[in-house]
Amino acid sequence: MSAFNSTLFHSVASEDSQFLAGALGVAAVFVTTAAYYALGSKGKENEFPKLPGIQPYHAWNFFKQRYDFLRSGYKRNEGKPFYFNILQHKIIALTGDDARQVFFGSPHLNVDEGYKILMGAAPRMSNVTVATEEPEEGNYGPFNRRLNKLMHKTRVEQIFPTLIQDIVDKADKWGNNGKSGKIDPFNEIYELLFLMTARLTTCHDLTKNETDLKRIEILLMELQNSATPVSLMISWFASPAKMSGLLATTELFTILRSYVDKRRNAVPTTDAIDVLIADGETTQVIIEFVMGVLFAGLLNTGIVACWTLIDLAVHPEWKAKCKKEVEDLISRHLGDSDTFATVYDKLSSVPFTAWEDELPILEACTRESQRLSFTGAALRRNVREDIKIGGKLVKRGDFLTYPISEVHLSSEFYPDPHKYDPGRWLRPDPVPNAVYPYLGWGAGRHPCPGMKVAKLEMKLITAMFLMRYEYELEDKDGNFPNPLPVPNRNDIHQARPLGPTCYFKFKKVVD
Ligand code: HEM
Repeated sequence: MSAFNSTLFHSVASEDSQFLAGALGVAAVFVTTAAYYALGSKGKENEFPKLPGIQPYHAWNFFKQRYDFLRSGYKRNEGKPFYFNILQHKIIALTGDDARQVFFGSPHLNVDEGYKILMGAAPRMSNVTVATEEPEEGNYGPFNRRLNKLMHKTRVEQIFPTLIQDIVDKADKWGNNGKSGKIDPFNEIYELLFLMTARLTTCHDLTKNETDLKRIEILLMELQNSATPVSLMISWFASPAKMSGLLATTELFTILRSYVDKRRNAVPTTDAIDVLIADGETTQVIIEFVMGVLFAGLLNTGIVACWTLIDLAVHPEWKAKCKKEVEDLISRHLGDSDTFATVYDKLSSVPFTAWEDELPILEACTRESQRLSFTGAALRRNVREDIKIGGKLVKRGDFLTYPISEVHLSSEFYPDPHKYDPGRWLRPDPVPNAVYPYLGWGAGRHPCPGMKVAKLEMKLITAMFLMRYEYELEDKDGNFPNPLPVPNRNDIHQARPLGPTCYFKFKKVVD
């Protein structure tokens, strides 16, 4: 739990000092680039308009205050697309239905390159010297194939009881022996998700080794925090952040390699690493795959799971509906033996497919929390020849960004868009017939391959919470938060609440 606090604290403290150090080193480059681009491309008909002002300042804001920066950029540009520079790179901020269609549909626009440079993507072997084989950059086909294999119904059903036992055991360590207490969801729920993802995609030996698991989690957070503007954009500059990112990736590789080596010499089981070994995957591919899944699982799934539980705590009527739906699901599958069953018995009695298909209300609540909390900017890079969007030029090498908030918080698509209303997903035709009106799981050429894993994990955690505990939201003084928590949309990695931390006060009501 404290690992999250300390890494986050370090990230804030060290990111600024690293920037200062880096900024001194590259100030000359910034000034030259600023002068060059300030004189830039005014008046060119087929180009997007340039955001006036000091470009390095825009660049800095893009990394530190992304949501506010893009909003104010669109406002200054009368709601139209614009571009700004980060050093020699052009970043085009798109907006509008047509642009959205191209952004998510064009084969020219590469996801991996966009996130790697503007966000700091998942750890990859090419970042460390120990790499011996070519990584599969920019191609999620094999990634999806491996994930689908691991998420196959027969395999998930086999590990399902262990998965539930894992989360129940972990929750038993909260507060007063799991009976009552107070938790910060952005620490404890993240940890539960991490454990589940490790169970689904690594091996039993690792899932049971709390020290190694914790270390991996800390390293992934360090890696996320090493993605500072300086380390991402100035590839030749060995900033402290860049060095700590490299060290974290190397250590991650070393820990995971020891488990893959161990599994290669063990009797095969249905553990994910064993399945990948049996499929003839190399050690490097297995490690890169596992690092990618753990990274994705730790970040996006954590955001949505935490906000689902927070939103339910704020809206007791929906909390009650979800609880009733889960109870009904369990009694349908467990029958009369329901009365004295533990939460473990109850949850593990429900088959995997029923979790997918039989919880429409819980699904609507999660979707609504996802709509409201998942409002970051999607990223791309044009890796092929020049193209035009809305008659304006996007050159090979240009970066593009599109704000998901434009659809998720649109009053045209979602009446009263800031209102939490899961009911909107239960009505016929919940969204208008428009181009990609919901982007919670991506769209077009790059739908999220982890959706099935993420949905299962989020439903299990929410169901466990609702069945096992009475819980309420409170601030640090024990009062119901006022104002109510809202996601910090500039927190591009975790979307933690804006302002003070909020907690769950819980009391266990069923074993
Ligand atoms: C609640 C949890 C999650 C959410 C909300 C989410 C959301 C998304 C979204 C919106 C995209 C599209 C990004 C874009 O177009 O720029 C995406 C892509 C992706 N997601 Fe997820 N994701 C989640 C969990 C996961 C998990 C658990 C994994 C891994 C197992 C994963 C792996 C990926 C990958 C590899 C891509 C890139 C696909 C491609 O480029 O074709 N995601 N996700």
